[in-house]
Amino acid sequence: MAEIIVTTREGKEITLAAKPGMSVMEIIRDGGIDELLALCGGCCSCATCHVYVDAGDAGTAGADETDLLDSSDHKKPNSRLSCQIAFTDALDGLKVTIAPED
Ligand code: FES
Repeated sequence: MAEIIVTTREGKEITLAAKPGMSVMEIIRDGGIDELLALCGGCCSCATCHVYVDAGDAGTAGADETDLLDSSDHKKPNSRLSCQIAFTDALDGLKVTIAPED
């Protein structure tokens, strides 16, 4: 089973089982980490699923995602909206940190 490693805002590292076909946001929420609000449910319209990609190649943000990330005070070069990262087996071992709340 593939997995991702998530660092919470408190700095706790949690390993979660990850299935292809899910978004990284869904994996985090299903894993019981509720500090990732993901208010819009993955429609790329809220930016409350903001994470930093610490390790692994999650690709680059699309135009809508970049616009939303630009509205965050906590945007970094490795920022992504986790609902826009589709998990595949190639992302096994992906490490992300949940960004501070805006
Ligand atoms: S869940 Fe709203 S933008 Fe990702």
